Amino acid sequence: EWDGISYPSFIPFREKGAEKVMQDIMDFKSRESDIILATHCKSGTHWGYEIIQMLLRNTTELEKGVKSNSMLEGIGDLSSLDSTPSPRILDTHCKFKYLPKQHIEKRNKIVHIVRNPKDVCVSFYHHALKDNFINFNGSWNDFYELWMSGKLVYGAWYSYELEIEQAEKDIPGMIYTCFYEDIKQEPVKEIKKLADFLGVECSATHIEDVAKATSFKNMQEKKFDITQIFDGKGFIYRKGEIGDWKNYFTVAQNEQFDIQFNEKMKDSNLKLTFA
Ligand code: A3P
Repeated sequence: EWDGISYPSFIPFREKGAEKVMQDIMDFKSRESDIILATHCKSGTHWGYEIIQMLLRNTTELEKGVKSNSMLEGIGDLSSLDSTPSPRILDTHCKFKYLPKQHIEKRNKIVHIVRNPKDVCVSFYHHALKDNFINFNGSWNDFYELWMSGKLVYGAWYSYELEIEQAEKDIPGMIYTCFYEDIKQEPVKEIKKLADFLGVECSATHIEDVAKATSFKNMQEKKFDITQIFDGKGFIYRKGEIGDWKNYFTVAQNEQFDIQFNEKMKDSNLKLTFA
């Protein structure tokens, strides 16, 4: 745990000390071409990563292995990223205030994906059940209660999203926010918008090919999934759908969730689809 938030145990807090791990991220030396992919867990990080790497590298090949970097907070020695060629894609679930200071000062690009928190919660539940670094073995109801208490690893979804929304207002143009549901429903349109933000020029055909190559089916079939280490087959590419929450939330849970959501997000301009 650090600064009131708990983290999964693959983050080298024990080896390096929590303070040092987080300080090293904040002190990380940024390059102007670095792209930070900032997401709350289970919002489509692996998907976004592949889309970004295909756009930047003008390819439709899925990256071999997981991603070239594991999450910033999972890398013990950040100087190991010195040898990664530019442009580097640095993904992290850490809150905005812990992102590399230089990246923010230089106004380098940040891509942020948001997903309906009810689907995030269900996706997170399935992940937590199987991930030994999280070590959860309760029921759906138990997990739901943990979510509602804001005590899950990486902290509450609300504080994550509110903080990054504030940063978007404070520093216009630095953060590009896109929505999981929009990418799912209109991948070509959304990938084009992302390419524009990244300053990448590419043909309409290439955008369509990227959309196909990063479809859930293709990624589930072809992408190496690091979570194989836990269950033999991996669980990052689980279902990839909008609205799976309806298969889990009871009517009472849904009502309670909405009340909490409306209260916590009352000052937010985030427009979310609860379909
Ligand atoms: P589900 O558990 O609902 O299936 P993250 O990468 O942040 O851990 O997010 C994982 C979630 O994104 C999982 O959601 C996963 O299936 C979904 N996902 C991964 N690749 C996807 C893709 N190409 N299209 C749609 N959803 C995808």
